[in-house]
Amino acid sequence: MLILGVESSCDETGIALYDSAAGLLSHALHSQVAMHAEYGGVVPELASRDHIRRVVPLLREALERAGKSLSDIDAVAYTRGPGLAGALLVGCAFAEALALAIGKPTIPVHHLEGHLLSPLLSSNPPTFPFVALLVSGGHTQLMKVTGVGEYELLGETLDDAAGEAFDKSAKLLGLPYPGGALLSKLAETGTPGVYELPRPMLHSGDLNFSFSGLKTAVLTLVREQGAVLDDAFKANAARAFQEAIVEVLVRKSLKAMKQSGLKQLVVAGGVGANKQLRATLDEEAKRKRLRVYYPELEFCTDNGAMIALAGCLRLQAGTPAKEAGVFAVQPRWPLMDMSVSGK
Ligand code: KG4
Ligand code: ZN
Repeated sequence: MLILGVESSCDETGIALYDSAAGLLSHALHSQVAMHAEYGGVVPELASRDHIRRVVPLLREALERAGKSLSDIDAVAYTRGPGLAGALLVGCAFAEALALAIGKPTIPVHHLEGHLLSPLLSSNPPTFPFVALLVSGGHTQLMKVTGVGEYELLGETLDDAAGEAFDKSAKLLGLPYPGGALLSKLAETGTPGVYELPRPMLHSGDLNFSFSGLKTAVLTLVREQGAVLDDAFKANAARAFQEAIVEVLVRKSLKAMKQSGLKQLVVAGGVGANKQLRATLDEEAKRKRLRVYYPELEFCTDNGAMIALAGCLRLQAGTPAKEAGVFAVQPRWPLMDMSVSGK
């Protein structure tokens, strides 16, 4: 069974071909980062227009790399939500129209389910059940995952998402968009312990997070510094921010594993690319005899491969594909709506 995956929820256009027997055959991606950088953030209208320009060439590229043609595709999976409405509409309309033209069904996919299952694309994948730490630009959740569509929410952020906190703090430090990855690079050159920032909700007793206070603490630090932020200050402040957020994410993940009695942790979403988060989790896992799984770096941030995979796994789990042609996007869509237990 060959599944075409289409991702267009934000500022990346992703197309991939996933074969249920052979695995990922090819994927093609275009990032709009350079285009949005000029504006300091994602401009939704520009994002939608760029998705329109990119989808067809990316589809051709993915087909060519896999040595496949349109007639080989059995179903078209695409991101239905959550995300930017206009951007979602482009991928959704494209996928539905293509499926209609080739006479194949579609599988609308939840973007976060794509992230959640993305470590299954790696050569050494986890097995169910596992605890998942989902850390993206819009979400921060700890989840118990028993199978495809079997999710239990253990904890989530009460305000900003981890990626959002990275991006906003980066902006406060004067870094250009997209700030998260740049802040983490800068943090590598900073000295730990020069500044101490709060670890919000570390001892809250539950598995929830809150990051807006941390962002405010960065703002206070910046204000105290005065008008000019020198390079050493920026690096040390970035380091302090990263130390704080990583400690909270790691402690809560370990607590979730202890509470659920599970030995495998899956880290997914853009912040999962963070080196310090990975190093700290790996160290703790070694000490506690736990295993941590990450998607390949290229599948941490948005991509078509995770959408094709999620679509394929959904079909295999018994979710029926739908007839192509009638569709709607879902810009706001809690992941728990995808769980059979609905918890
Ligand atoms: O999963 P993703 O590509 O998009 C969403 O679905 O939100 O995640 C993007 C987020 C951004 O907030 C970005 O700053 C963050 O992931 N990010 C990072 C790193 N790379 C991307 N945050 C920390 N360290 C990184 N290396
Ligand atoms: Zn994402």
